[in-house]
Amino acid sequence: MAAAVPELAVAASHLGKVYPTSRADRPALRDLTLEVPTGRVYGLIGRNGAGKTTFVRIAATQLAPGSGTLHVLGRDVRTEAKEIRRRIACVPQESRPLYFLNTEEVVYLYLKMRGMDPVEARRRTREAMEELSLTDYRKRLVARLSGGLRRRTLCAMVLASDAEVLFLDEPTTGLDPIARREVWEAVRRTIREHRTIVLTTHYLDEAEALSSRLALIERGELKLEGTPEDLRARVRYPYRVLVRDPFPREELEPYGRVTVVEGGHLVFAREADARELARKALERGARVSMGPVDLEDIFLEVVGRSIEEDGTSETEVEA
Ligand SMILES: Nc1ncnc2c1ncn2[C@@H]1O[C@H](COP(=O)(O)OP(=O)(O)OP(=O)(O)O)[C@@H](O)[C@H]1O
Ligand SMILES: [Mg+2]
Repeated sequence: MAAAVPELAVAASHLGKVYPTSRADRPALRDLTLEVPTGRVYGLIGRNGAGKTTFVRIAATQLAPGSGTLHVLGRDVRTEAKEIRRRIACVPQESRPLYFLNTEEVVYLYLKMRGMDPVEARRRTREAMEELSLTDYRKRLVARLSGGLRRRTLCAMVLASDAEVLFLDEPTTGLDPIARREVWEAVRRTIREHRTIVLTTHYLDEAEALSSRLALIERGELKLEGTPEDLRARVRYPYRVLVRDPFPREELEPYGRVTVVEGGHLVFAREADARELARKALERGARVSMGPVDLEDIFLEVVGRSIEEDGTSETEVEA
C-alpha cells in the first residue's frame, strides 16, 4: 500500500519571529497561522519588509522559528529539518547560481547533488532549459550571464528538481515579460506533477494568475487568507467602477471610495451601489466600465487601511 501523503505541504501555527537585532515589539512575524494545501500554488504577498522572506526561510529550514510551530509535509522544522530538506527546493530572494560553471552544468549538478539518477538529471536539465529558453546559453559561464538569465538559471534548477514543495521567493523579479511567462508555464507544469509551490511575488497579476490560495501579510501579521474569491468577499468594496467623462467628484463620493485616475475617476463600491452608479453614469452619457476588484485593488485597500490605522507608512522602522 502506498504511504499516506500528508494533506498539507506547509502548516504554520502561531508562528512568530523576532530577529536578534530587532526590537521585541517589532517582530518580523507575529502569530501567523496558515495552511498550504499540497498540489497547488500558494501565493504570499505583502509590502517590502512584511515578513514573506522570513516565512519562506523558516519553512525552508534556513532560519529557526521564534515561537509557534511550522511543519512541512507533516514534519517539524525544529526537529526534522534534515528530512524536510530532501523533499523541498528553494529559489531564495537574493541568490545566484555558482559563477564558475556553465548554465547546463549548474542545473545538472544541482539535480545530481539532490541524488537524481544521471540519465534522469540530463533529461530534466534539457527540458527545463528548453522550458525557460536557456538552451542557447547552455555552454555559457554563469559569470557571463545577464542578471535575468542568472535568475532564470536558478528557476530552471529548482523547477527541474523532483522536490515535492518548492519555495520561490520572487522568482520572476528582474525577468522580462516573456521569460516571466515561461516561468509561469513551468510553474503550471510543476503543479500538474502534483507538487506544491509557495510563491512570493510583488507582481499581483502573477499572484492572481497562478495562486489557488493567497496570504496577504502586513507587518508580520496575516491580514487576509484564502482563494482569490475569498479575498474579494472580505474587502469593504468588492467592485470598481471607472467613470471616464467629467463627472463631479461630489456626486461620486456617496457611492464609495473615489480616486482620481487619468481621464476620470475610479470608484470602489459595494455591488448594489456600483450597479446604480454605472446606470446613472450611462444615462448621463458618460463612458463607464464596471467589474470586480482585482488583487491589486484588494492589496491597496487592506494595506492602505493598515497604514492609516498605524499612522506610519514604513513597514521597516529603525529601532
Ligand atoms: N537578517 C535580518 N536581521 C534583522 N532583521 C531582518 C533580517 N531580515 C529581515 N529582517 C527584518 O524583518 C522584517 C521582515 O523582512 P522580510 O525580508 O521577511 O520581508 P519581505 O516581506 O520579504 O520584504 P520584501 O518584499 O522587501 O522582500 C523587516 O522588518 C526586515 O527589516
Ligand atoms: Mg522578501
